[in-house]
Amino acid sequence: MYKITPWEVSGDIDYSKIVKEFGLETISEHLMKRIEKHTKELHPLLRRGVFFAHRDLNWIIDEYEKGHHFFLYTGRGPSGHTHLGHILPWVFTQWLQEKFHVDLWFQMTDDEKFLFNDKLDLEQTRKLAYENALDVIALGFDEKKTKIFLDTEYAKTLYPQALKVAKRLTFSTAKAAFGFSNESNVGEIFFTSVQAVPAFLPSVLKGKNVPCLIPHAVDQDPHFRVARDILPKLGYYKPASIQSVFLPGLRGGKMSASEEGSAIYTTDSPETAKRKIMNAFTGGRDTVKEQKEKGANYSICPIYHYYRQLFMPDDKELASLESECKGGSILCGECKERLSKRVAAFLSDHQHKREQAKHHIEKFMIRD
Ligand code: TYM
Repeated sequence: MYKITPWEVSGDIDYSKIVKEFGLETISEHLMKRIEKHTKELHPLLRRGVFFAHRDLNWIIDEYEKGHHFFLYTGRGPSGHTHLGHILPWVFTQWLQEKFHVDLWFQMTDDEKFLFNDKLDLEQTRKLAYENALDVIALGFDEKKTKIFLDTEYAKTLYPQALKVAKRLTFSTAKAAFGFSNESNVGEIFFTSVQAVPAFLPSVLKGKNVPCLIPHAVDQDPHFRVARDILPKLGYYKPASIQSVFLPGLRGGKMSASEEGSAIYTTDSPETAKRKIMNAFTGGRDTVKEQKEKGANYSICPIYHYYRQLFMPDDKELASLESECKGGSILCGECKERLSKRVAAFLSDHQHKREQAKHHIEKFMIRD
């Protein structure tokens, strides 16, 4: 059993079941070829199936080929610092922006995190949104093609559009999509209307329909299921999406802000990151002798998934790590040491870019 909502992920996640239950499509070889025709290469996250499912991506490519360009939309709920799981969809979004030369609308849902988190007030979620924006900018988005906004600071534009969505959304639909109860606060029930808005706002502003593609991990799908239902009733396109699996937590299972050591934050020092990696759960055997004889199981190992999803883009290198692991010729300690070095190099580069981002953040932010 598993549960996936935008606010809770628990249990053993079976992605093939999710595809069926959510009504997603998997990304076929044919679709990958169609993408590659335009991008000239496939991002590792795509060719390795980390982005594994979609809605209407063929339509997005059809429209693009007719010269009808889409825009990208993604976001962040600022409840704390950014961890490496969050940046996974952003790294991929940046690649899509660069390859397709398209705009990105990036929503910071400071309202959401205020409504859903008892411990955070609006001033804290606002500050965190600005911290998280530095991470977004550090990933290299094009300042001329990227707009970042906080819901509370762009409310004059967002609110009338959110109302149009909310008027079409019943409590019973919201309950079925998100599992709300009579004890849920009414802001929570309303909130998905706000997350729907950037999917059609460029169409409102341009006065003509523009296709929208939303990269995200599969937990956000319920929002866009609801949006896909309602937007055509308002005269707009259904948003398309491309969806990833989760970067797992280092302690095994899901990544969780409340479990110390399960996530590496972009603000962690290399030493802290190394400590978390060295303490991580692995797919290794109980003893060195056993591991050398029987090899380890990389498919359940978070360390392996860190390499596969973010830190080893070279396919040959990854294949050789897999065979070393399976054959027992590398032990977990050594594998963790090697990952720590890569993570440390990423963190020091990212933190430098994050500092630089402070000087040009205003080129990205929009308010009204
Ligand atoms: P949030 O802040 O929970 O997550 C931000 C993005 O990170 C993805 N994500 C992960 N991806 C891989 N591995 C993980 N372990 C992991 N954990 C989270 C999420 O799917 C998301 O893409 N309500 C949203 C903010 C939002 C948004 C959007 C997200 C507003 N508009 C449009 C995506 C698309 C939220 O709280 O995301």
